[in-house]
Amino acid sequence: MQIEILSNANSVIQQDNYLLIQTAEAEARVWVYSPTIIRVCISKTFAQSDESFAVIEKPLDNFTWQHLADIVEVTTSAVKLVINLKPLRFEFFTADGQPLSGDDTRFGTNWQAERVMNYRKLYPDEKFIGLGEKAGDLNRRGQNYVNWNTDAALHTITTDPLYKTFPFYIGLHSGLTYAVFFDNTHKSYFDFGATTDEQMMWFGADGGDMDYYFFGAQGIRNILEDYTWLTGRMEMPPLWSLGYQQCRWSYMSANEVLDVARKFREKQIPADVMYCDIDYMDGYKIFTWNKETFPDPKGMVDELKSMGFQLVTIVDPGIKIDENYPEYKEGVEKGYFATYPNGELFTGSVWPGRCHFPDFLNAEVREWWGVSFKALADPGVEGFWNDMNEPAAWGQNMPWMVKFGDKFMPEIRNVYGMQMSRATYNGTKRILNGKRPFILTRAAYAGTQRYSAVWTGDNAASDEHLLFGQRLVNSLGLVGMSMIGVDIGGFMGNPTAELMVRWNSLGPYTPMFRNHAALGMTMREPWQWGDDYEQIIKKDIEQRYKLLPYIYSGFYQSTKTGLPLSRTLAIDYTQDENIYDTKYQNQFLFGDALLVAPVISTVDHVDVYLPAGDWYRLNTDERFTGNQMVNVSCPLTDLPVFIKAGGIIPMQNIIQSTNEQGDGVLQIHIWNGDDTNTFVYYEDDGATYSYQSGSYHKRTITFDPQKREIVFNPVEGEYQSKYHKLELVGHGLDGVQLNRQIDNTNEVFAISY
Ligand code: GLC
Repeated sequence: MQIEILSNANSVIQQDNYLLIQTAEAEARVWVYSPTIIRVCISKTFAQSDESFAVIEKPLDNFTWQHLADIVEVTTSAVKLVINLKPLRFEFFTADGQPLSGDDTRFGTNWQAERVMNYRKLYPDEKFIGLGEKAGDLNRRGQNYVNWNTDAALHTITTDPLYKTFPFYIGLHSGLTYAVFFDNTHKSYFDFGATTDEQMMWFGADGGDMDYYFFGAQGIRNILEDYTWLTGRMEMPPLWSLGYQQCRWSYMSANEVLDVARKFREKQIPADVMYCDIDYMDGYKIFTWNKETFPDPKGMVDELKSMGFQLVTIVDPGIKIDENYPEYKEGVEKGYFATYPNGELFTGSVWPGRCHFPDFLNAEVREWWGVSFKALADPGVEGFWNDMNEPAAWGQNMPWMVKFGDKFMPEIRNVYGMQMSRATYNGTKRILNGKRPFILTRAAYAGTQRYSAVWTGDNAASDEHLLFGQRLVNSLGLVGMSMIGVDIGGFMGNPTAELMVRWNSLGPYTPMFRNHAALGMTMREPWQWGDDYEQIIKKDIEQRYKLLPYIYSGFYQSTKTGLPLSRTLAIDYTQDENIYDTKYQNQFLFGDALLVAPVISTVDHVDVYLPAGDWYRLNTDERFTGNQMVNVSCPLTDLPVFIKAGGIIPMQNIIQSTNEQGDGVLQIHIWNGDDTNTFVYYEDDGATYSYQSGSYHKRTITFDPQKREIVFNPVEGEYQSKYHKLELVGHGLDGVQLNRQIDNTNEVFAISY
């Protein structure tokens, strides 16, 4: 096999809105998307259509560049791209000339047959974060990874690849930040200086183009904002999906589902969601119900709804080969399934046995798939769980000659799950007539945040998985995802009661709070662990419900800025070396004000690193000085959760489900601090899209501890808050009484204390 390394440019011109550079091997094109986003695409065979599954924005019409001897410079207000023409290499700088990242001058972009790679300079102090759902440490320096969506059943905390592909990383060196999104759906590779004697980092793919977007914004928040501008942001999730979710593979009958739901209400343990895993179906045929065990789906869902529960049902892509199954027959007739190159239908085996696989790359198939959800939506289901969409089949790797339209498996695999969730989202959104569907997917590609929540797949009931799961959630937050869950309790294996309790205590601070377990594992509901532990779990779930106004406002932030709800400390404390320490790397901010330190179940004291600033322990209001490690107690009743001094947290009194109106009191908790702080409170009907046309309630709350004043700015939007009273609750105010209740009017007002 030959290696072809990009050689000298032999022409440079601007064509339309891009720069076109030719070498003997390939053609490079450069577009400017914004002052901080530049795209470089190097290709041997520029495809006629320039399509991306991830990117939803268009480049600027024009940009500034100049040709100086053997160099071309593309400049924006924020970034300078220096293109060396002999040989063709690309290097990015800040506008004032500090190097951010560039090609290794020797090897740059090159090909070995179809495989395209980019070798880049590596700075001695360079750290890397990102790639989403990947094993290993927060700082990915010294690690290498493969993106190849995989049904990673029985995965360990070092397994790679897992289920999802997010070819986006952030580089940190010399006090600077930058990021690269490699928009290529083929099997891809990232090496963060693991194998090159500290000389280079490299990434590339088995096929396709060297097509990447360079982000030059300074500060990780700005990079995330740019990345989610380019690839889209989530929409507001239905409020019910933020309540407690009880899942299991499987509740085997409607009666069992209803019994579990009733028990939550009897025991006054708040909950919003019940799940039906694969056993609700007739022979695992998608869009069917088992007539014996689920004889009256509508009756079941109605009863669940009367108790304030929503139901989520699972769907897998595999359509069972069965002559009496309409989806099978229609799919075959219309040519909706993946084929072999000779046109024969591809068959693989999954839960239903022998199956065909819809070609979700085809818009007509997505449409058909979307409409089929009527079988679930008509009886009242509003949540749709997309599983096994790597795509999974027994034996794992489907043949590479399997065809989807005119494309083959190697190019499709990493986007298949995303296209399935796209079809599910668009279809169910239409069917639900204005209500927000809740979509959950296991496989994903960059941009999936536009359609679906994700969870981290089949984890295990162990302490190390508890910590690992948090690391995955935090890392998924760096690639545009915000609505993320892990199987609390661990999917495989049986947790000890202590682990179950501890994991549930992390639940309130997990964007999607869902318990789930595999077939054959012990039952996991909160009452399965003895009275004392049940009470602790109940309190944790109640904590989730108290925090919902804060959490909902946090998701609003995600929809506007791409900032995730669960934030690795690297986002706000990028330059603090301690936060990358493997001892502290799982810690995260949950929203603007809370810092959470996940802890295993077998210790009652733990070292926590508190970054700069002052912090209060949530349960005691004890004040700590930051920039140091503190050893704190962590009994099973008290996960170490801290509030940033000056923190503002809206909370509500306990309700049993988000369906409940509640007492109409919104508590505004404030923790004393030194500096002025603000919080953007957001509310809407929690159920429809009317917020997109002005029906929301949004106001900025400012807390000025020096002036001893809290200002409620005028309300924006037309939605009337469901809270008619505001209750102010002060913490750390040295005995000063803030606590009082006032009317929640829409105009500006200030409270002094
Ligand atoms: C897969 C899913 C798991 C589900 C099971 C049965 O293993 O990851 O969550 O319970 O399939 O549908």
